[in-house]
Amino acid sequence: MATPRNATRTALVTGANRGIGFEVARMLVGEGLHVIIGARDGAKSREAAASLSKDGGKSTSVSLDVADQASVADALEEIAKTVGDIDVLVNNAGILIDAPGGFRASVFDMTDDTMRTTFETNVIGPQRLIRALVPGMRARGYGRVVNVSSMAGQLSDMMAGYPAYRMSKAALNALTRVLAAEVADTNIKVNSVCPGWCRTDMGGAGATRTAAQGADTIAWLAMLPDDGPSGLFFKDRQIIAW
Ligand SMILES: NC(=O)c1ccc[n+]([C@@H]2O[C@H](COP(=O)([O-])OP(=O)(O)OC[C@H]3O[C@@H](n4cnc5c(N)ncnc54)[C@H](OP(=O)(O)O)[C@@H]3O)[C@@H](O)[C@H]2O)c1
Repeated sequence: MATPRNATRTALVTGANRGIGFEVARMLVGEGLHVIIGARDGAKSREAAASLSKDGGKSTSVSLDVADQASVADALEEIAKTVGDIDVLVNNAGILIDAPGGFRASVFDMTDDTMRTTFETNVIGPQRLIRALVPGMRARGYGRVVNVSSMAGQLSDMMAGYPAYRMSKAALNALTRVLAAEVADTNIKVNSVCPGWCRTDMGGAGATRTAAQGADTIAWLAMLPDDGPSGLFFKDRQIIAW
């Protein structure tokens, strides 16, 4: 049997126990990568990895709360011992906790706590993993970083509503740009992506897309060829404005 194209690659997908993250993990396993499911709840993480491994795919679970530096350190230590180096990082874990009123949430109601908690997961979490994993990618001469953002963070079309979430995704996009510039002379590709409005716990039942549709561009960016783009923002495999 031919060796799958990505048989030697490993990927860490955060928040992969459900929603878009799980679909990304499923797609990457299908492409032959060894995918580590990072999830806050160890049991859910094991369950997700087991379901992806049952048809011969390679998936491993790890307990990982991106908002907790100790959890990140423990998870990375475990991954280093049990799996080895990470080639692909998908920063997918995210929260949307603006209140009250969801889309109608106002900047005047946003508490420091909402802002801090949102940034801890949506921005500082990704940065923690980047800081820990990208130097190894650089040393090995290969890396793909995908930051799962949102059009809600698009400065060119910024509107009212969800203020903490919007600001966190704009900051995540800035992280993409800064990191991409820092590693521009390497074979590390760093991109942001908007999955579109997807039917997940976050997106709700009225959303227009499946989680798998949202996952498609994320998985594509996670497997970019060496001459692929870097430092850009994508939706549906097309570049969009910041
Ligand atoms: N759905 C949409 O319409 C939409 C649109 C644009 C962008 N996005 C982005 O797409 C990504 C995935 O969203 P989704 O719709 O799949 O959301 P979801 O169904 O709510 O799933 C979110 C995932 O993130 C995990 N998570 C949250 N905080 C975490 C933390 N501190 N550490 C580790 N994992 C954590 C959750 O784990 P638990 O099970 O432990 O809670 C869950 O696995 C997010 O970054 C979101 O902002 C979604």
